[in-house]
Amino acid sequence: MNEDRIAFTFIIFLILSGCLCHSSPVDIWRIVLREPQNIQQVQRSKIRLGVTEDIPHLAVRIGLSDLASFIYRAGLTDILSSKGPFTVFGPSDLAFFQLPPESRKVLFTNNTLLKELLEYHVVKGSYYRSQFKNEELLDSLLPGYKIRINQYKNNSVTTASGAPFYLQDQIATNGIIQSLTSVMIPPAGTITYFVKTMSAFSILLKAVSVAGLADILNGAGPFTLFAPSDEAFSKLPPAELDKLLNDPKLLKNILLYHTLKGTVYSAGLTNGETVHTINNMNLTITITNQGVEVNDAMVTMPDITVTNGAVHVIDSVLLPSNLNYVRYDKYMHFITNLT
Ligand SMILES: *[C@@H]1O[C@H](CO)[C@@H](O)[C@H](O)[C@H]1NC(C)=O
Ligand SMILES: *[C@@H]1O[C@H](CO)[C@@H](O)[C@H](O)[C@H]1NC(C)=O
Ligand SMILES: *[C@@H]1O[C@H](CO)[C@@H](O)[C@H](O)[C@H]1NC(C)=O
Repeated sequence: MNEDRIAFTFIIFLILSGCLCHSSPVDIWRIVLREPQNIQQVQRSKIRLGVTEDIPHLAVRIGLSDLASFIYRAGLTDILSSKGPFTVFGPSDLAFFQLPPESRKVLFTNNTLLKELLEYHVVKGSYYRSQFKNEELLDSLLPGYKIRINQYKNNSVTTASGAPFYLQDQIATNGIIQSLTSVMIPPAGTITYFVKTMSAFSILLKAVSVAGLADILNGAGPFTLFAPSDEAFSKLPPAELDKLLNDPKLLKNILLYHTLKGTVYSAGLTNGETVHTINNMNLTITITNQGVEVNDAMVTMPDITVTNGAVHVIDSVLLPSNLNYVRYDKYMHFITNLT
């Protein structure tokens, strides 16, 4: 038994030294650090690095103790210790702590929901950060729910369903942990669905329908909508609002002035940046300690993940400084092209 083991170790030593003879130390590190071409490459890298921990153990070691205990409580330890490989998008302890108190309470009292939420944070396969593409959609273990990856600022910022990466490429024996600074919330539906089902957007819902944009905002997108709440609309003089809600063309222009092409989460925005709306207008982004502003509107609830992009709730309606500037026909055509 003991002899067998010694023999085995000797063979491993021979194999390793054989490899080392043919490649300089620099080459070895290049092999280890290179983006893996496939899973086997990942497995080989792991052997070289001497990785011994599976995902739950690695989570504990890198300080994701809430994640580790939630995995255990949700009954996901067995699957996340199995061969995999899996990529786990692991919220930090602070991320879980920053959830609203009611959400936190639910996580501690409803194991079914906890399990579903955690399943949304796991995908099959090993993914290094550099392998992700902007707007890539990954199937999570929660059936029917996808994680949207975004790469911003020349790929220096990566988000998963809006949550920025924190500790990246943590390698376990059975996969990779990409840790996050916030918890990902599974998207309930499209932008249109969101506007329809949330009670704070009854005027926006009416506006979207009058403008004939419900189908587009229900489509593949992806789009980013700055969504004025009812409170925001009610800041307009009642006569103006009434006029607006009876002018489909103008309304369409104004709503498209609230819409960006692509998924733009707040982690992808920079102070002072100009973003381009779908109707080729510009919005100015200001980031302060208070949060994100777009033109003169304050983002009151950023980074809501929807299946076809992102929604940011704003406290004022955005109005182009010169409404006449907007060329209706030009972007009607643009919209037709989008669908
Ligand atoms: C727990 O969560 C599940 C899944 O979301 C839900 O169906 C169920 O009603 C919840 N149970 C309680 C007691 O809230
Ligand atoms: C973007 O990143 C690449 C690779 O890291 C770098 O070579 C390039 O200079 C960067 N460009 C800008 C504008 O920062
Ligand atoms: C929007 O900004 C771009 C530069 O980022 C500029 O070329 C363009 O003229 C601006 N469009 C409008 C409508 O102001």
